[in-house]
Amino acid sequence: MKTLDDLLGEGVSGRRVFVRADLNVPFDKANPGVISDDGRARAVLPTLIALRDAGARVIVASHLGRPKGAPDPAFTLAPVATRLGELLGSAVVFASDTVGEDAQAKVGALADGEVLLLENLRFNKGETSKDDAERGAFADQLAKFADFYVDDAFGAVHRKHASVYDVPARLPHYAGGLVVKEVEVLRKVSETPENPYVVVLGGSKVSDKLAVIQALLPKVDKLLVGGGMCFTFLKAQGHEVGKSLLEAEMISTCASLLEQADGRIVLPVDVVAATAFSADADHAVYDISEIPADRLGLDIGPKSTELFASAIAGAKTVFWNGPMGVFELAPFAAGTRGVAEAITKIDGFSVVGGGDSAAAVRTLGLDETAFGHISTGGGASLEYLEGKTLPGVAALEK
Ligand code: 3PG
Ligand code: MG
Repeated sequence: MKTLDDLLGEGVSGRRVFVRADLNVPFDKANPGVISDDGRARAVLPTLIALRDAGARVIVASHLGRPKGAPDPAFTLAPVATRLGELLGSAVVFASDTVGEDAQAKVGALADGEVLLLENLRFNKGETSKDDAERGAFADQLAKFADFYVDDAFGAVHRKHASVYDVPARLPHYAGGLVVKEVEVLRKVSETPENPYVVVLGGSKVSDKLAVIQALLPKVDKLLVGGGMCFTFLKAQGHEVGKSLLEAEMISTCASLLEQADGRIVLPVDVVAATAFSADADHAVYDISEIPADRLGLDIGPKSTELFASAIAGAKTVFWNGPMGVFELAPFAAGTRGVAEAITKIDGFSVVGGGDSAAAVRTLGLDETAFGHISTGGGASLEYLEGKTLPGVAALEK
């Protein structure tokens, strides 16, 4: 796999470089257009700065959200171009389309050391199409813009999309520093984790995490389960979970995972349950055998946080993906905070996998440098640990 350093060594002054970035940042729900966590934009800065400072004409492309293959103002990257310009300390030109007239004109007018951001890739049907020819036709248009391709969108390498998979087949291609670093860390954690190895999983659905649980069970010493997904496991143990999130069709799968795990899957012993999904809702801590029928669990309770923290304390390797509760709402943030703080204290190597857990670290104001590595990819890091081939990485290796 060739890297950005190889490209810089070859010289890029005056050359056009297409950079696939993952600028799929979260926005503040109460303030439209305001980015709530710009971690993904900051993560790609070293690549953009290196190319800009080497005199390249930099064309940045990303997706944002999941628009349906046509322009949709709710998913414009315009606010991200502004933010990126602030972070870079130099203006970022924004094209109001991806491969249309505006993009073509602005690509053509790029000066050496200038950075251009194209509008959302997913405004074009070809980006996510399952049809190779349709994806290929869109990739042809993107590839025409540049002399070289750099992928630094680790968060999207698990997607077989035109900008991730097909453009690198059409241009000399290089892995950006972020992709190199992410793959190196995940390889280390999945191939040679130092024991005790503790994995912490949260988030809403067991079904999303099933493959990774199956892949990790043989390797881990403890698998701590919190978040919405813990209720299906608790139900499988015979507890009533009230109105908490439940995937009824997964109960028997959870029961067999618990059996296979032979005590290594650790579940909460208490939860914070509320009358509604709201920060103002009446809420209290309940033992898991006493969750009222009319309440829903929105965080793990204090005893569980302590239990999880003590399991984490002795670990040499920790991988964490998924919040323990609805951390965005203050009454339900303590579990995620407690677990995150415990992870920062280990005498070992910790990896925070992904979108939501990485955002939680920053939203809760935790010290980012206290973690071994904070991944920019949620789905991508999980699929890596599952042992799947990541199309974006495979394309760079070809
Ligand atoms: C993410 O947020 O997980 C990545 O940006 C990929 O987005 P996607 O799940 O919509 O493909
Ligand atoms: Mg995702």
